[in-house]
Amino acid sequence: MQLDRNQMDRFHETGYLMLPNLFSTDEAEVLRRAAAEVYALDREEVVREKDGVSPRTAFAAHCYHEAFRRLGRHPRLIEPVMQLLGGPVYIHQYKVNAKVAFNGDVWQWHQDYGTWSRDDLMPEARAMNIALFVDDVTEFNGPLWIIPGSHRGGVYEAGHDLDTTSYPLWTLDRATVTDLAERGGIFSAKGKAGSVLMFHGNIVHASSPNMSPWGRTVVYLSLCHVNNHIRRFKRPEWIAHRDFAPIEPLSDSCLTEPMPAMAEAVA
Ligand code: SIN
Ligand code: MN
Repeated sequence: MQLDRNQMDRFHETGYLMLPNLFSTDEAEVLRRAAAEVYALDREEVVREKDGVSPRTAFAAHCYHEAFRRLGRHPRLIEPVMQLLGGPVYIHQYKVNAKVAFNGDVWQWHQDYGTWSRDDLMPEARAMNIALFVDDVTEFNGPLWIIPGSHRGGVYEAGHDLDTTSYPLWTLDRATVTDLAERGGIFSAKGKAGSVLMFHGNIVHASSPNMSPWGRTVVYLSLCHVNNHIRRFKRPEWIAHRDFAPIEPLSDSCLTEPMPAMAEAVA
């Protein structure tokens, strides 16, 4: 799948692009079931909220669940990113983010490339996210907030927040966020299950807690140009991957083709 000229221009200008209903409701349903299976696993990759119970994020699910393995090689996700990054890509990070009903916690204001450069020594911001909404994302269940145009300022100063949530993050201070939001506003990324959001590695983003009775799972593929792979292996392999081989996309129908049950799936 290729973006048209207008979509490419909008991405470069604002740092993000929504592709509503890119996946069908049947495909989203396959992933909803897969996410429930993954959240039920007792593995170190499945990070819980501070309550120790609610799933917050499942890292590297493409390494231990067949549906997520296929999604990690899906042409509707991989090809537009190859187009924007100008060549072959590998998976730097893979997250299935829960934001459960009532208990889903905040993601503080941050830039992903801020972490990739500081922690993983990724040379350039030649990496980005493509996110698939597995559930409907509404104003109530913690949509991602994005500051349009914030990718144009490079990497902003940040502090390492180890306390606010169960997951450490390099976060931006209020003055920086205020200044950027006064210029760019805030875009709230809402959409039906199956919708896709692409955003630049330097976009400033956050999400609020989920006080609603509706959970929302969003899968984030962080893809990096193969020549721009990380140089430092400080974080666990399942948070910052070290397989830099180019992804070969599968067929467009891969998610709805027969799949082995989880026990037989990839180890
Ligand atoms: C992230 O920024 O990595 C995740 C944010 C979210 O899922 O709300
Ligand atoms: Mn992020």
